[in-house]
Amino acid sequence: MCSSKLWCQLIVSDFLLERLDEAKRVVGNTPVLRLRRLFTSDVEVYMKLEFMNPTGSHKDRIAVFMIEDAIRRGLLGPGGTVIEASSGNTAVSVAWVAARLGLKAVIVVEEQVSRQKISMLKSLGAEIVYAKQGENVKLASELAEKLGGVWLNQYANLTNHIAHYITTGPEILRQLGEVDLFVMGMGTCGTVTGVGRFLKEKLGKRVRVVGVVPRGSAIKGGPGKGDRIEGLITSFVPDLCRELGEYIDEIIEVSYDEALEAVRELARKEGILAGLSSGANIVGVRKALEHFKARKVVTIAADSMLRYPELLS
Ligand SMILES: Cc1ncc(COP(=O)(O)O)c(C=O)c1O
Repeated sequence: MCSSKLWCQLIVSDFLLERLDEAKRVVGNTPVLRLRRLFTSDVEVYMKLEFMNPTGSHKDRIAVFMIEDAIRRGLLGPGGTVIEASSGNTAVSVAWVAARLGLKAVIVVEEQVSRQKISMLKSLGAEIVYAKQGENVKLASELAEKLGGVWLNQYANLTNHIAHYITTGPEILRQLGEVDLFVMGMGTCGTVTGVGRFLKEKLGKRVRVVGVVPRGSAIKGGPGKGDRIEGLITSFVPDLCRELGEYIDEIIEVSYDEALEAVRELARKEGILAGLSSGANIVGVRKALEHFKARKVVTIAADSMLRYPELLS
């Protein structure tokens, strides 16, 4: 038995952190593959297969980091509630960590989210709240107040960016040694800015960092009702994109049709079954190479085609 309330809390957080550490150990260290048939010139283009994380996306990285941060700051204790607004992948990752730690996960998703992701969330025991397109972030903040839970707020939480700065960036450098160009779709901007910042700090400003957004995205000053590429931002400019924009050299727009064509090519020519945002990344690499000179390029397959049955032929 523990002798005081504070002492009890410390012991219990230690227990949660131990559980979290176990989860952390199975996240990351994902493989990279060279794309030899899509890019046949001298330029070496690599794709990091983030769908090989435990729940199938790069968001496992930020879920463990953001929840750890909330526990360490004393905001989250045993049996506590985590709330997140997510287009799906972060939701699944948060629900996974919550299940492992015995926390309650309340997830606010947009109505259009894939059925596959909803089934995964339900299987992981998360509570699901539906919001209209573009309104899930506002609803999550309102719910956090009402339920007294911790709103992780991936769009503004610096720990999202830090997770990629500490894990994804260093892994890429270890795996490839050199990188001239990094291309990544922008959702919260955690990945593009976290990896971009790490590579620029290690290799200098000559490393070019390119963000990819759907055609019509608010990030490029568009009407915010752009093409829908799940995971990439269209309707608003997230705080992390605004605050960490210095790590992004250029932003390229990609249409839904271009992304779809590329993701099908990725499957047929490289044997990589990736989600639509990975197709957008491939188009982004092609467009970036029209004006950036690079020998080694890396991009990310954030999630898998298996998560979107409608993409399968
Ligand atoms: C499939 C997919 N691709 C790309 C991204 C963008 O990643 P980030 O939020 O780190 O900008 C996301 C984010 O939700 C995603 O789910």
